[in-house]
Amino acid sequence: MKIDIISVVPDLLESPFAHSIMKRARDKGLLEVNCINLREYTTYARAQVDDYQFGGGAGMVMMVEPLVNAIESLQESTVYDEVIYLTPDGKTFDQKMANHLSLKNNLLLICGHYKGIDQRVRDHFITKEISIGDYVLSGGELAAAVLVDAIGRLIPGVLNDETSALTDSFQDGLLAPPVYTRPVIFRDWKVPDILLSGNHAKIEEWRHEQALKNTAEKRPDLLP
Ligand code: ADE
Repeated sequence: MKIDIISVVPDLLESPFAHSIMKRARDKGLLEVNCINLREYTTYARAQVDDYQFGGGAGMVMMVEPLVNAIESLQESTVYDEVIYLTPDGKTFDQKMANHLSLKNNLLLICGHYKGIDQRVRDHFITKEISIGDYVLSGGELAAAVLVDAIGRLIPGVLNDETSALTDSFQDGLLAPPVYTRPVIFRDWKVPDILLSGNHAKIEEWRHEQALKNTAEKRPDLLP
């Protein structure tokens, strides 16, 4: 999968994909992430990419021309399955969306700043608008990083058995059960006996009960 990201602060996107599972995905050639600096696509003086909004009001708007230049230039060499704008008024991102997007070949993400992007870009180029939650970030970059991480780890071959996404919270609509590792006893806190029993059927049953309990306590809204 290839994910291109248009940003006015591409440096913000250096670190999130340079470590751990994202690094492995890129090293294995399963995920390609390219950060494109919007300022390279403006024809305005001093690399300007934003301007005052028509009608007045506080806050700058990202101009249509640099964005369209960047998008159309990238589209010359890539057919994108989705052109996604990260925005607080988009559809709230969830695991189902991550699963769906992880099956695509090419994604283009657009990070907004200031008051957002000129509506004409949204009307003519954007195929999906996504928010990562009901709060406002200073730009779309951190939201883009969240998307790429959540999607990237689901690409077939990225996770191995130990890190399998199948047992993640939300994959079966429930929160994950509690997990333990060595030592069996720390202070007087003991790992539940069932996990040491070797009875895999019973362990799975226990995990499912715990997942249900966890979900009922913390996120009852997820239960039917
Ligand atoms: N840009 C600013 N806030 C955002 C949010 N909550 N989700 C996605 N993009 C954003």
